[in-house]
Parts: sequence; C-alpha cells; structure tokens
Amino acid sequence: MKRILITGANKGIGLATVRRLLDSYDETFLLLGSRDLKKGQEALNSLVASQPGWKDRLDLIQIDVGQDDSVKSAADEVTQKFGGTSSPLYAIVNNAGIGNSQLGLNKILQVNTYGPKRVCDAFLPLLDSSIGRVVNVTSASGPTYLAGCSEEVKEILTSPEVSWTEIEAFMSECLKSNLESEQTSKQGSGIDSYGISKACANAYTIYLARENHKLTINACTPGFIETDLTRPMAEANHKTPSEMGMKSPEEGTSASIFLLMGNPSGSGQYYGSDCVRSPFDKYRSPGDPPYTG
Ligand SMILES: NC(=O)c1ccc[n+]([C@@H]2O[C@H](COP(=O)([O-])OP(=O)(O)OC[C@H]3O[C@@H](n4cnc5c(N)ncnc54)[C@H](OP(=O)(O)O)[C@@H]3O)[C@@H](O)[C@H]2O)c1
Repeated sequence: MKRILITGANKGIGLATVRRLLDSYDETFLLLGSRDLKKGQEALNSLVASQPGWKDRLDLIQIDVGQDDSVKSAADEVTQKFGGTSSPLYAIVNNAGIGNSQLGLNKILQVNTYGPKRVCDAFLPLLDSSIGRVVNVTSASGPTYLAGCSEEVKEILTSPEVSWTEIEAFMSECLKSNLESEQTSKQGSGIDSYGISKACANAYTIYLARENHKLTINACTPGFIETDLTRPMAEANHKTPSEMGMKSPEEGTSASIFLLMGNPSGSGQYYGSDCVRSPFDKYRSPGDPPYTG
C-alpha cells in the first residue's frame, strides 16, 4: 500500500485528490488531513458513503499546518500507527492553503510557505527514503509574482543553490516593507501576499529537492479551479465561476496526481496544470511548450 498524506483534504482540490486516488489507484491508502476534525470526518464519511469499500483505505489525521504543535502531533500519530512498517509513507501532498489577502502577509506565509516546511520537517523521516515523493501545491501566482520582481530577487528564488536562510530573509524583507507601507498608505500595502507565499513555496521546493536527492519533490499549480478559495473572485466580478474560466476540483487534481503517480522528468521542478514543466519566474499557459531550462 502506498500511504499518502494530503493536507487540507476536507474540501476543494485536496478532497478531490483523495477521491481520485481512491478511485483510480487501488494500491493507495489516504491519510486525509484536516485542521478541523469534524469537517475531516464529514469529508471521510462522504467518501465512504459513495464507495463503502474505501473505508479500509482511509484514515483521518488532524493537522493544522500553521501550528508547530499540531503538525508534530500529527506526525507522532502517523508514527504510532504506521511507524512499525518499513515505509510508513509513500508521499506527502502539501495542499493546504489560504488565499484571502485580508488575512495579511504573515498569516498567508505561515500557512502557504512555512506550512509545507513544517510538514516536511516533521514527516520526511517517515517517507520511503528511496521512492518517496513530495508534491507542493503552489500556484501560477508564484511565477506571475516573480516575473515582476527584480533580477536579483528572481536569481535568488530560482537558483538551484537557494537556501532556506535566503528564502526566509526574502520573506522577512517582504514583511518589513509590507508593514511600512501599511503604516504610510491608507490603501494598505497592495502587496501580492499570495504570490509571494507561492513564489517562496516554489523556492522551498528547489531547496528541499536538492537536500533530499533520492526523493522526488516537485511543485505544481492545479489551474484556476472553482473552490471556496476562488468563488469570492467570481462573486466580486458578478460572474459565474465558469464565466471566469474556473474548472472543477477534479480537473484541478491532474498535476498533483501526475507528480505523485506519474513520471516527472526530475525533482525540484514546477509543473503547470497540464502536467507540463513550467518556469519558476514566468507564467506558462497550458498548451505552451515545456520549459527546458
Ligand atoms: N482554486 C484554485 O484556483 C487554486 C489555484 C492555484 C493554487 N491553489 C492552491 O490549491 C490548494 C487547495 O486550495 P483549494 O482551491 O482547494 O481551496 P479550499 O477549497 O479553500 O481548500 C483549502 C484547504 O486548505 C485547508 N487549510 C487552510 N488553512 C489550513 C491550515 N492552517 N492547516 C491545515 N489546513 C488548512 C482548508 O481547511 P478548512 O476547511 O478548515 O478551511 C481546506 O481544506 C491551496 O494550496 C491553494 O493555494 C488553488
């Protein structure tokens, strides 16, 4: 059995990823991560109601990726349950994320960037050391944000040698300038908190893959998908999600599933929603030629 932990799996793209793996990959066992046990249990119940046989391939794990203690307890729980087996985990999908810029840059970084790091710090020792995989669900907002940055910032965050210290230093700079501009401007800072968090999560993917060269560690965007995260955008534009070009959560699982179960060309890379390798510092549309840099 390939045990796969998916964070933020009680709804949206995370839940759709659990469902698709259960449906299409008989050899998988899913650890459905949810920060709220009740919501997680409801999600698990809905899966089992649709397919009773899935009961034996599912487990619920309470995990708030923004909290050290929660992530540590979750890792302890998984160790207790499966630590006795030769490879407790086949893969980790860092899917949990937030997008509401009103929450502020610090909160968004804590979930979208520090979240995957917290989870990997705690769970990497449980991962199969020869075939293990990590999928970081980032976003096209990362490359789009980086495209507008200075050459110096692009170089740091896309360098094969990027260190966590450099990523953290960049986040600290952003937090500092965000605070300063919030204090001086009535309009707030106008900073792209979500784009920063995902550009840094992409850079973390490069770093993590380099430090764990036997594992396959990649990032991807799910595409523009109708979920609780994006629905407010449609409402603000007085359009339906499909008029906005949003696809279904199921369609948003393709890149993650490819990086989990398919044959990506390497590690430390970023993939588009069409499962094609894409650059870290420029948006690549689905259908465009692969990035080969
Ligand atoms: N939808 C898109 O178009 C799109 C595009 C690019 C990237 N993404 C990325 O795709 C991922 C999934 O997003 P989605 O669209 O499926 O959004 P969603 O429906 O809002 O789901 C987000 C999930 O993350 C969980 N979560 C939030 N904060 C958490 C925390 N601190 N600890 C643990 N779980 C937490 C949520 O749990 P609760 O139910 O408890 O809030 C929920 O399960 C995110 O990383 C997002 O940035 C989405």
